Amino acid sequence: MNRVYIKTYGCQMNERDSEAVAAMLRGRGYRIVDDENACDILLLNTCSVRDAAEQKALGKAGYAAARKKRQPDFVIGILGCMAQNRGAAILDTLPDVDLVIGTQKFHQVPGYLDNLRAAREAGLPIGASIVDIAEEAGSQNTIRDHLDAEAGAAPQVSAFVSIQQGCNMDCHFCIVPKTRGDERSRPMEAIVAECRSLASKGVREITLLGQIVTSYGRRDYRHTDGVSPFVQLLEKVHEIDGIERIRFTSPHPRGFKDDLVAAYARLPKLCEYVHLPMQSGSDRILRAMNRPYSRERYLKIVEALRSARPDMYFSTDIIVGYPGETEADFEQTRELFESCNYDMAYIFKYSVRSGTVAAELADQVPEAEKERRNQVLLDILHRNSEQRTAALIGTTQEVLVDGPDKTGRRFTGRTRGNRVCIFDADPRLIGQLVPLHIERASVSTLYGSLVLAGVSDRAGETHSAPRAAPASAAA
Ligand code: 5AD
Repeated sequence: MNRVYIKTYGCQMNERDSEAVAAMLRGRGYRIVDDENACDILLLNTCSVRDAAEQKALGKAGYAAARKKRQPDFVIGILGCMAQNRGAAILDTLPDVDLVIGTQKFHQVPGYLDNLRAAREAGLPIGASIVDIAEEAGSQNTIRDHLDAEAGAAPQVSAFVSIQQGCNMDCHFCIVPKTRGDERSRPMEAIVAECRSLASKGVREITLLGQIVTSYGRRDYRHTDGVSPFVQLLEKVHEIDGIERIRFTSPHPRGFKDDLVAAYARLPKLCEYVHLPMQSGSDRILRAMNRPYSRERYLKIVEALRSARPDMYFSTDIIVGYPGETEADFEQTRELFESCNYDMAYIFKYSVRSGTVAAELADQVPEAEKERRNQVLLDILHRNSEQRTAALIGTTQEVLVDGPDKTGRRFTGRTRGNRVCIFDADPRLIGQLVPLHIERASVSTLYGSLVLAGVSDRAGETHSAPRAAPASAAA
């Protein structure tokens, strides 16, 4: 009764939370399994950002409940944002759910499962469900465990590190301040220690995570010489030997000041890939959303970053069909979207979230119109991304080798711009930065071959060590 399958919905923060829960459970003797059909405990780590994400998890839990007929001890847990958002009300429609655990209580999951297990093993009647969605001071410090690789498995190359929880921005469309609570940062030393420990285990790439990373530590640390606490943190992680690449998500345009732009020019490990949520290109809609920046300011940040790193890649979040968004507003978004030339974008149709300011607004945009606007942006994204990919063919890119690909015959890695690459390699190259000559590409994947020295210094003996070739920039 100790096999756990965790299904994660939503963002990278949720992935990180699931990973930490898995690590804590493994530390307590539970087994984390890959096969949902072979588990005793199903944990759904949920997302509430849009209604569709909640419906997916609810559907899954309802379907899983039927399993209790043939597997009476089967445990279903709903964790994370939807648990926080809906609380005990989940049990009204899904009485078979055993655990409803909010976003500040992930670290309690092992204890609650131990209790359930003990009760069942003692033959006690199956009790009421456990609901815990309370706030907990210091809970931002509890997401710090990482799943150590199984003996013999390839080491983990890339890791997420949570630096902050919650958000105080009050964007009018967004449920996150309700599901994740107040903005709380982890101490800088604890984050740096975690990154150091990851580096010592072979991790080469760190992605710092938070709902609004640009506000990191604003209540706990001072600016020094105009450098914000977040940039100070980047500097400290940058100093760690073994860490070769640093990424972060998500920043807020409001906090994307000159010190952060300048960091791109002086911290070479900071990858030239920025996820910068725009949400809308219309000043009127940005105001209605309570997003405190203008389209002009947004474009200035993009231009400044392109000056700091001409080969910068950008991704963004956009909401189409926000209440009151007219054709003229959308045209402004379309135009700004086109001029930023995104490599990747997450385009969302506005979804009413009860309890948010926007949910009360009249003037909802019809679904068909949201769909049309969504498609217009997707077409632009597709074109831009294709052009960018085409420009990479024939160049040599620095690739971090992640491990075997799905087939197990080849290897996968990522460029600094976060494009996935497939190539032939040797397992000894996992975790290394290698130069890859890009030969062809599909919509989302690059294919190439390692640039090898291939020099023979003695008759018949050829070295095939990767040569340090400079990564050439895309056009
Ligand atoms: N409807 C649609 N998209 C939303 N997002 C947040 N709230 C909503 C909503 N109510 C999007 C925003 C945010 C991303 C994580 O999800 O673009 O940046």
